Amino acid sequence: MSVPVVIVGAGVAGLATALAAASRPVRLLCRGVAGAGSASALAQGGLAAALGDGDSVEAHVADTLAAGAFHNDAARVRWLCAQAPAVVEWLAGQGVEFDRDGAGRLQLGREGGHGAARIVHAGGDASGAALLRTLAARVRAAPHVCWQDGVEVEALRLRGGRVCGVRVRTADGAREDIDAAAVVLATGGLGALFARSSNPPGADGTGLALALAAGARARDLEFVQFHPTALDLPDRASLPLVTEALRGAGARLVDAAGRPLLDGAHAPGDLAPRDVVARRVWQALRDGVRVLLDATRVAGDWTQRFPTVLAACLAHGIDPRTTPIPVTPAAHFHMGGVAVDADGRTSLPGLYAVGEVACSGVHGANRLASNSLLEGVACGRRLGALLADLSPPPVHGEECCHGLGAGLAPARLAALRTLLWHAAGPLRSAAALRRALHTCIGWSGEGWQARLAVAVLAAALRRRDSLGAHWRVDAAPMRRHAAIAP
Ligand code: SIN
Repeated sequence: MSVPVVIVGAGVAGLATALAAASRPVRLLCRGVAGAGSASALAQGGLAAALGDGDSVEAHVADTLAAGAFHNDAARVRWLCAQAPAVVEWLAGQGVEFDRDGAGRLQLGREGGHGAARIVHAGGDASGAALLRTLAARVRAAPHVCWQDGVEVEALRLRGGRVCGVRVRTADGAREDIDAAAVVLATGGLGALFARSSNPPGADGTGLALALAAGARARDLEFVQFHPTALDLPDRASLPLVTEALRGAGARLVDAAGRPLLDGAHAPGDLAPRDVVARRVWQALRDGVRVLLDATRVAGDWTQRFPTVLAACLAHGIDPRTTPIPVTPAAHFHMGGVAVDADGRTSLPGLYAVGEVACSGVHGANRLASNSLLEGVACGRRLGALLADLSPPPVHGEECCHGLGAGLAPARLAALRTLLWHAAGPLRSAAALRRALHTCIGWSGEGWQARLAVAVLAAALRRRDSLGAHWRVDAAPMRRHAAIAP
């Protein structure tokens, strides 16, 4: 039996990679159980694809570039948007039951930054969960994949400058060295390092931290996207998302007196790009204004269209059909990450990255809504096909292990999350970033999360202009960005 490809992470990107790598043996290592702790499971919006009458791949490309403040890699954006219709078809072929109208046509939703209705969804606002369920079932049935739950990757192993395996701790606490023909990081983002996040607690940047510890190149680390509307629950770090699709269906952001928050700030109002809306909500909250999403006029059956939001709100005593929902921005998506080429190769031979942990430049400075599940599936399939035919060179020399080392103690980690939220949130300044950087450098001997925060803060300090999701209150926006004051 040949040496397996090791895939770390069982979200949509990891699963798509695993399927496409057939028939090479794959070991899929999942930190939690069955991918349930991945951000994919929580993705509500859906998957963007130019499938509607009058829509086009070019229009999808234009919206992606505009949302990304033209910091995107245009060729990769073109490739991704052109793939989207085929990705939807492939997923449907795998068994994903996308929502359709009475005539069997795909229902297309609208989200912020999109000039057309082009979001396909499944189970209403439970699209990520639907994709994950279907792909996980396929992977579990695939004879070339060995799936292991409860496994923490502690280190990357290198020999002769090439990644040749991983060191892991298994569910029963045992340590194991696994040899690999290639290691794929599909570990998701780092939203959980912020005090308020729509991500699950496991989205804490471990994959990125592992890659940096081993010497891989990272890119665009300053670009963290803040979703404008998470359910505002006090004293909770991981917050339920209140999907942007609700604004696409007519919900509006208002203050406690019912006055619209966005009128006049930006032409599409409530459907302005995500960074614009997030800054507006953040600023209003800072000014002591209570921000509510008034979805009481959204038509249709909520149990079909928005079951996830409905359940999350009802669980906290809010019926969104009759009562506006209190919302807050929350760290949502990392545009930056491990630098990869179009196929997912990192700068370290033998190491690959896919999905949110990777930065291929496709999202630029701010991801367009519903382009992330698309990226995970499209890039996962492309990478998997490459790995299926991989013939790695023999490796020689001393083996060395590059690990995360200790993590921060819980109280310190909580302090770091608060620090990042205030200094590196939707509105940033050199003074606040510098203070936070200084503090994190002081903590960096205590745990890997502090070292990762240092890398993010240093990148944010280096970029002196406002661009996309990186908004510096002390700097003028770059000219190529259509500047909208918060
Ligand atoms: C949402 O449903 O608002 C989020 C979708 C996304 O992150 O693309």
